[in-house]
Amino acid sequence: MPPTTACLDKKVLKAFFNTALADRQNVVLQAAALDDPREEFARSVVEGLASSSRELECRFLYDARGSALYEKICSQPEYYLTRTEESILKKWAADISGLTGLCTLIELGSGSSVKTSHLLSAYQTRYDKVCYTPIDISRSALNDAGRAIAKQHPGIQIVGIHGTYGDSFPLIQCASPALVIFLGSTLGNFSPAEEELFWTDLSAHMRPGDYLLLGVDLLKDPGLLEAAYNDAAGVTARFTLNYFARMNRELGAGLDLDRLSHRALFNPEKERVEIFTRFDAAQTIRIKPLHKSYAIAAGEQILLEISRKFSLAGVKNSLSGFGLHPVRTYTDDRGWFGLLLLEKREEAKR
Ligand code: AVI
Repeated sequence: MPPTTACLDKKVLKAFFNTALADRQNVVLQAAALDDPREEFARSVVEGLASSSRELECRFLYDARGSALYEKICSQPEYYLTRTEESILKKWAADISGLTGLCTLIELGSGSSVKTSHLLSAYQTRYDKVCYTPIDISRSALNDAGRAIAKQHPGIQIVGIHGTYGDSFPLIQCASPALVIFLGSTLGNFSPAEEELFWTDLSAHMRPGDYLLLGVDLLKDPGLLEAAYNDAAGVTARFTLNYFARMNRELGAGLDLDRLSHRALFNPEKERVEIFTRFDAAQTIRIKPLHKSYAIAAGEQILLEISRKFSLAGVKNSLSGFGLHPVRTYTDDRGWFGLLLLEKREEAKR
């Protein structure tokens, strides 16, 4: 991936994106000057700890170490999500490429882009001049994925966007006809209120005739769900513990990590796995940059992440309210994971 970068405001980003598409450049565009991550982390932790429910924002799980641990989670035997979704993509990529026609492939939260490679192969087999736009907040993930894709898929154009999903939505119109790809059941990490905002915003930026490819983890035996988030090798436990290790590193929290433990439980009422860190002993969390501290009692649990699980009918029903209509639904033999191809048909009613 050529290392060309620009630090841009919204209008300039759009202009650079249009030029890159027109000239078939390979480039990574920086969507905006990202805030000071340490400062942002400190503010978010203070807000989470000050609230009575003691919930932290899961996006801070993904620093460089957290992202590497997440990649490791994906290959754990209990974590069926990645493997299952990849098998569906592999089987149906050609079908999907035929249904959408040639379009710009825009992937939200592209990470390593490994699963997407099946789609890229299918589009390159069928069409000339395929363009892939991966979007990620991790610059290193974008660079690594860009290099791997350029090697595996000679001739493909890659215009990476270093930024948030919201930064990238205004670019969809420039790339239309577009296939927006949102895999891995990342939707499950949004609360229902965040989900509503996300679809409202995304759908408003899609044109009729654009497509969405969405991967969602489906409701299943709670034993299987809990096992997926409590792998025997303890990788998920290390992933959640890293949140507090990051607090120690970046915020001077002063925590004894050996007195914390990982808990992941399925909540059947909310149809979600809830991932907590339990304080096995009383400790004080210091947030040095903001001169705050919070006493956490022995036995107290802090919610780090939710992972909602879905039914295909529920997802289809909810997305049609945003003008996104199912074209095909794919699943695996066990019905554990769903991949939905949806088409934007009319302006959203909401
Ligand atoms: C990124 N996301 C879809 C993962 C999930 O399954 O909800 C995050 C994760 N957390 C622990 N294990 C995996």
